[in-house]
Amino acid sequence: MTSITVATEPAYTVEVGPGALAQVGALVADRRRVAIVSQQAIADRYAETVRSSIDAPTEVFLMGDGEVHKCLSTVEDLCRSFARWGLLRGDAVVALGGGVVGDTAGFAAAVYHRGVEVVQAPTTLLAMVDAAIGGKTAVNLAEGKNLVGAFHQPIGVVADTDTLGSLEPREYRSGLGEVAKYALMFDVAEDPTGLVDLLRTGTTSLLDREPALLADVVARCVKVKADVVARDPHERTGIRATLNLGHTLAHALEIAFEHRLTHGEAVAIGLVFVGALAGGCERVGIDVVDRFQAIPASLGLPVAVPEPESVSAAELLSLMARDKKASGGLTFVLPGPMGLELVEDPPTAALRYAFESVGIFQEKP
Ligand code: GLY
Repeated sequence: MTSITVATEPAYTVEVGPGALAQVGALVADRRRVAIVSQQAIADRYAETVRSSIDAPTEVFLMGDGEVHKCLSTVEDLCRSFARWGLLRGDAVVALGGGVVGDTAGFAAAVYHRGVEVVQAPTTLLAMVDAAIGGKTAVNLAEGKNLVGAFHQPIGVVADTDTLGSLEPREYRSGLGEVAKYALMFDVAEDPTGLVDLLRTGTTSLLDREPALLADVVARCVKVKADVVARDPHERTGIRATLNLGHTLAHALEIAFEHRLTHGEAVAIGLVFVGALAGGCERVGIDVVDRFQAIPASLGLPVAVPEPESVSAAELLSLMARDKKASGGLTFVLPGPMGLELVEDPPTAALRYAFESVGIFQEKP
């Protein structure tokens, strides 16, 4: 088991490794009651392991599958169910599942009784390396994703890598999109994660979900996220925004394709795009442009927009301008000589080159 500290105030730990779910009980020792929020299929597999680790009375509260259930009415249902069960402010909530559960249960915990403690117990690769760490909780509105939320740091995170063996192949691959992002966040010469080397030699084992390698990769990604979150917990200085590497185009693609692309698939294409964009802006050399393509490709992720004729650069530019980070124009996280930086309104020629790198031609070729 690897234990990683997120040095927020207060600090908490992320336990990464096989069998970590059994550690939930230690995190909520002495609580009077513990509410476990999950979805049916996940609860069927893992709720008993979590419940048996907890001394206090527990109850499982189920929510539906899919982004459509990450909404205010689910939060209301959960809070009303908590109230009927008698959950009080000194008690705790456990979010057992992927990002949808973590975000929704985390937000319910943030607002119920003006805030009860939450333990994040992610069961997908995407949630383990990203969503469960850092205290971002939110639900969707009809007007957009994650529009209502709160920063609510968990009291602990348990990332049980045994749960990753049962993920659907596409869901697992989606998590690899975020792994690719962490591998590309640093200059390769001073990469503190060692992920680039690890991926170079271990891609096949990672795709085969070899347990020891998987636990190692998750722990390395979590360390990066923990460090970034501790330096900018409320995304105020621009440091935390660097975690959105590749995400400006990714969010636009998710909307344009009405979620037929998974988040990780969209991030992979977004990484190729920003590598080329940074090259087009002469911030990096061709070696970096190539690496931003090669790493997602090595993980079996898409590196070009599927059905490119169904979406135009103009449509994607307009969706990207609506991105949360945009402060009037188009904003991208780009690699460069000083590392990752937020860059606004890159030159048209660089954008054209970046679009072409992912198979989108502004005028029909
Ligand atoms: N997923 C990006 C962040 O947690 O800031």
